[in-house]
Amino acid sequence: MAQLWGGRFTKQTSSITKELGDSIYFDKALWKEDITGSIAHAKMLGRQGILTKEESDHIVAGLASIYNDLDAGKLAISNDCEDIHSFVEATLIDRIGDDGKRLHTGRSRNDQVALDMKLYTRGAIDDVAREVLLLEDTILDLMDKNRDTFMPGFTHLQKAQPVTLAHHFGAYFEMFKRDFSRLADCRARENYCPLGSGALAGTTYPLDRDFVAKELHFTAPTANSMDSVSDRDFLLEFLSDLSILMMHLSRLSEEICIWNTNEYRYVELDDAFSTGSSIMPQKKNPDFAELTRGKTGRVYGDLMALLTVMKGLPLAYDKDLQEDKEPVFDAVKTAKGCLEMMRGMLSTATFRRDVMERSAKHGFTNATDAADYLVNKGVPFRDAHGIVGQLVLYCIDNGKALDDLSLEEFHRFSDVFDSDIYDAISLKTCVEKRLTKGAPGEKAMEEEIAQSRAWLREAEKSLPVQA
Ligand code: ARG
Repeated sequence: MAQLWGGRFTKQTSSITKELGDSIYFDKALWKEDITGSIAHAKMLGRQGILTKEESDHIVAGLASIYNDLDAGKLAISNDCEDIHSFVEATLIDRIGDDGKRLHTGRSRNDQVALDMKLYTRGAIDDVAREVLLLEDTILDLMDKNRDTFMPGFTHLQKAQPVTLAHHFGAYFEMFKRDFSRLADCRARENYCPLGSGALAGTTYPLDRDFVAKELHFTAPTANSMDSVSDRDFLLEFLSDLSILMMHLSRLSEEICIWNTNEYRYVELDDAFSTGSSIMPQKKNPDFAELTRGKTGRVYGDLMALLTVMKGLPLAYDKDLQEDKEPVFDAVKTAKGCLEMMRGMLSTATFRRDVMERSAKHGFTNATDAADYLVNKGVPFRDAHGIVGQLVLYCIDNGKALDDLSLEEFHRFSDVFDSDIYDAISLKTCVEKRLTKGAPGEKAMEEEIAQSRAWLREAEKSLPVQA
């Protein structure tokens, strides 16, 4: 198929440059965006009298027929064309004749492709954000069900203080909440329409950029035309958001891998989210948590690739910018897949309350509370810390938990201990006493869950209704 720019040339490009230079192999994914943008442009050309109403209507109808046929699978995108823009234009000319040759009036592929990527990103942000909220819903359900599932909270991967599984998952709820809000910020910041910027310096035609922007649901047209065709900040921002989101998924995956070990056994993954070994019959591996962790590296790579592409680019459009697409498509596909997988894995996993509780009890997670008990009875904190430290050593030597000690044993270390020590250091008390906002105590948690639920409902309403 002829190139869009053949006039000045007397020779064909070499076959190797064609393979390297053509973007049709991957930008065919943008066909919907490309046609949608072209329809808005053609309508505007007609309204402005740049084309006659008949020409404009003819083009719009032709583009709509291409859209419908592609959507119905009746038309295939041919790799003969250089890119999706050439394919749509060539198909249009093929279908409606000479009027099709007028579509590109007052437009360059430079503003066209910038528009396509903005439209694509807007939709992709909505898709990812929707997946984030579905995962949040799953996490919230887990929080609700596990308000009294006691477990150790860790620092340095050492048992530290008792928390609940609800509280632990609450931390992830917050992370994904920030991810959602970052995506919303990115969407709002990118939502300015570059169409009408031409190749780099606008055009001499009286285009109505406001009309096109409105037609395509943008906040407004972009300002400087050179920036408009060369800006890919919105993609970098989106890839950064996806990288942070993946980092959160990866941390959660890492914890699932640890919790799933034979040593921890806090969680049993459903068969549907585990794999076996080809040689070791006993194995049940958390492959999908591991893969999510691994794919995080891939998304970071996508971000790094585009950052590196952008760093030396002079204004305005350079062909390097064609390299913006594959990393973005890859990161979107990866993040969406991992979010969906995580939702399935969490909602089918069995969390072992008994194991978690035993683990909290036998890890001296109530040692701080034992010290606080002494402080409440008048012992200075530093002394209390020392006394409980000795008690812990004694317990380790004798294979006991603090709660297992007799009062007589407690008295060997301090006569301030009384029979109320047992209640003071029970896991339930230790957690319940943690009442500060954001703490795992029942009241605080109840509030957190209610607020999270309310936030989720609002966030769901903020997303555009799915077509
Ligand atoms: N395939 C190109 C891209 O993705 C479209 C823009 C081509 N513009 C140009 N001046 N060669 O960037």
